[in-house]
Amino acid sequence: MNIDSKYRDIPERRKEFPSLSRMHNGYPLAFFDGPGGTQVPQAVIDAVVSYYCTCNSNTHGFFVTTNESDMILEKAREAVASFLGASGGRNISFGHNMTTLNYTLSRGIGKVLLPGDEILITQLDHEANRGPWLALREEGIQVREVEILPDGTLDYDDFRDKINENTRLVAMGFSSNALGTVNDVSLVRGLTHKVGAWLLVDAVHYAPHFPIDVNSLGVDFLLCSAYKFYGTHIGILYSREGLLDRIPVYTLRTQEQHAPYCIETGTLNHAAIAGVKAAVDFIASFGSGGSFREKIVSGMDRIGEFEHILGKEIYKELKGIKGVEVAGPGFDSDKRVPTVSFTMEGMDPIEICKLLDRRGICAWDGHFYAIRPIEVLGLLEKGGVTRVGVSLYNTPEEVQRLLEAVADIGKGKLR
Ligand SMILES: Cc1ncc(COP(=O)(O)O)c(C=O)c1O
Repeated sequence: MNIDSKYRDIPERRKEFPSLSRMHNGYPLAFFDGPGGTQVPQAVIDAVVSYYCTCNSNTHGFFVTTNESDMILEKAREAVASFLGASGGRNISFGHNMTTLNYTLSRGIGKVLLPGDEILITQLDHEANRGPWLALREEGIQVREVEILPDGTLDYDDFRDKINENTRLVAMGFSSNALGTVNDVSLVRGLTHKVGAWLLVDAVHYAPHFPIDVNSLGVDFLLCSAYKFYGTHIGILYSREGLLDRIPVYTLRTQEQHAPYCIETGTLNHAAIAGVKAAVDFIASFGSGGSFREKIVSGMDRIGEFEHILGKEIYKELKGIKGVEVAGPGFDSDKRVPTVSFTMEGMDPIEICKLLDRRGICAWDGHFYAIRPIEVLGLLEKGGVTRVGVSLYNTPEEVQRLLEAVADIGKGKLR
């Protein structure tokens, strides 16, 4: 596999991740479980530790550590706004995780919809962007589902058929965490604009691999999770200027009643939020340019291009192994995340993952809560798929080890 010299510095940054020096069964541990959550660089760990060591306190008081805590949270909002191309921190809310934020938002949106109104979801999505909307059926809201094609891409003709003048919201993923598909959000934005519906995008699986520009995409809401892009376990909600103020999300008297705070019930995880800013700074450190945003965008571009080379190699080589079926769309287009799911004839994905673990390789089995696409593709009753995902710290040598291990499983040499 040829890695252009312009990307060589990327996997070298692995030394900044303490967990990557771990051994298992005599092998250096190779983390291909990034889609379930990436490893964390020292800078992120330091930010969390520093918060606890220097200014652990609650917010909105009148003494030094509370003032610093306020500042840390606001700076983190600004950093995430730059990460997503949003106008400012006022568009960024934090929460426990993406699922909880989306659920809370869905209850609020449910209150402004009327019986007969429609929501369009997709078969491709993670349950976190299906369940909350399906629950609104109890309120008389029609929830329709856009189908997927056998290659794991969305059926845009079905999309055009199902969107109509009653559609109030389209809730879709940017990228599939099970199949690696990247959806055409711009096309969908055009269709939702035409009928005056809101567009909510789950970018949890897209954000670690591509730069995002919420303003040019024209999305109304976008959610992601920092633990998927080298950060901490924090969920993030972007909401378009003024929009969250119009959604009657559940609030308490104790809370600020306006965006971005109105969806943040109770005390936030301040230390983890300090780690979110450090993760965005870390990504920016891969890029160049004058502004922080330019650094983030060019950093993400470089990271994504490097990961694409590794992902493409995995996809191509796995396809050549006897008995292996690779799911999801091919790597011909750049719009593919480096997440590769496969099945092996006569093997349960759990067994495959256990065997890979023996060689010090972390990979996931099953449906990864993307239950619907795995079900539609007829893979649920077979235990789902085995999934490997590439992150910026993976190396060509690790890819080679992975491919050899899968080939050895196929030959019965790894048992
Ligand atoms: C595509 C996608 N959406 C949503 C989620 C849920 O995110 P969280 O764990 O932050 O609730 C995940 C988690 O794996 C995901 O991959």
